[in-house]
Amino acid sequence: MDREALRMLCSPQFWRMAVLWALSLLHSYLLVFHCGRADAPRRRRPRPAEGRCPICVVTGATSGLGRAAAAALAREGYHVVLAGRSTQLLYETVQEIQRQQPDAHLKEFQVDLASFKSIKKFGSSLKQWVHEKNVEPSIQLLVNNAGILAKSHRITEDGLDEMIQTNYIGPFMLTNILLPLLKNSSVPSRVVNLTSFTHRCGLDVCEDALRGMKFGRCSIGESYPLASTYEYTKLCMLMFSYELHRQLHMSSGVSVI
Ligand SMILES: NC(=O)c1ccc[n+]([C@@H]2O[C@H](COP(=O)([O-])OP(=O)(O)OC[C@H]3O[C@@H](n4cnc5c(N)ncnc54)[C@H](OP(=O)(O)O)[C@@H]3O)[C@@H](O)[C@H]2O)c1
Repeated sequence: MDREALRMLCSPQFWRMAVLWALSLLHSYLLVFHCGRADAPRRRRPRPAEGRCPICVVTGATSGLGRAAAAALAREGYHVVLAGRSTQLLYETVQEIQRQQPDAHLKEFQVDLASFKSIKKFGSSLKQWVHEKNVEPSIQLLVNNAGILAKSHRITEDGLDEMIQTNYIGPFMLTNILLPLLKNSSVPSRVVNLTSFTHRCGLDVCEDALRGMKFGRCSIGESYPLASTYEYTKLCMLMFSYELHRQLHMSSGVSVI
């Protein structure tokens, strides 16, 4: 175990996280049980015109939930755009999915969500690829999956806390760049934002936090508030999802969940 991980295990933030997150998870399960959401019928999404694969973009597609989602969406007949930080991991993931599903339609793009420059470059390359591919340039699904739980305070090239930029500001920017393509879809399109039950712990929303003054900054010697920062990014992502859905679902065919 590296030193950073050991420091994290010994920090009060870790133990606060362990207790509060377990309680929040329990609360979320009780809510699901109470509302009976688990039994909701599965609806199939409409498809674009005959002969065309719907296109989905999955960020953080090289491991965990993103990788599983990319494989499952390929199985559903989507042309899956896998977006990830490492070109080597992207290559390996594409090879692996292709090995299991030889007829899968896959395309990989490198992007670092903790860099504005990288997101803009990815946005332009993706738009160009979609335009070259389709008469009606559009995408049907964007899965903002990439996310981290940083063990320590790191500043990105844009001068922001790495966890805040990766988990919230980066996906916010990417979604806005890709909105024209989502709106251009002839069938209802969708943005899926990966949040977390831990947003329930992030009740400390004050003006300082919203201006980025509270989290993601700590002076030398102070331990990094990793749990609060993570919870805060997920709360921001949830509020962003609600607001974007409110703005879009009446005026366009885009829904946000
Ligand atoms: N797992 C859970 O129990 C759980 C619960 C609630 C919410 N979530 C959320 O679900 C999402 C996926 O979780 P997971 O457990 O599947 O995580 P994971 O296995 O750690 O995968 C995260 C993915 O995000 C990518 N990523 C990290 N930083 C990035 C960056 N700056 N730019 C581009 N990609 C980046 C990683 O790429 P690299 O491989 O290059 O690092 C990786 O592919 C996250 O948003 C997480 O917060 C997970």
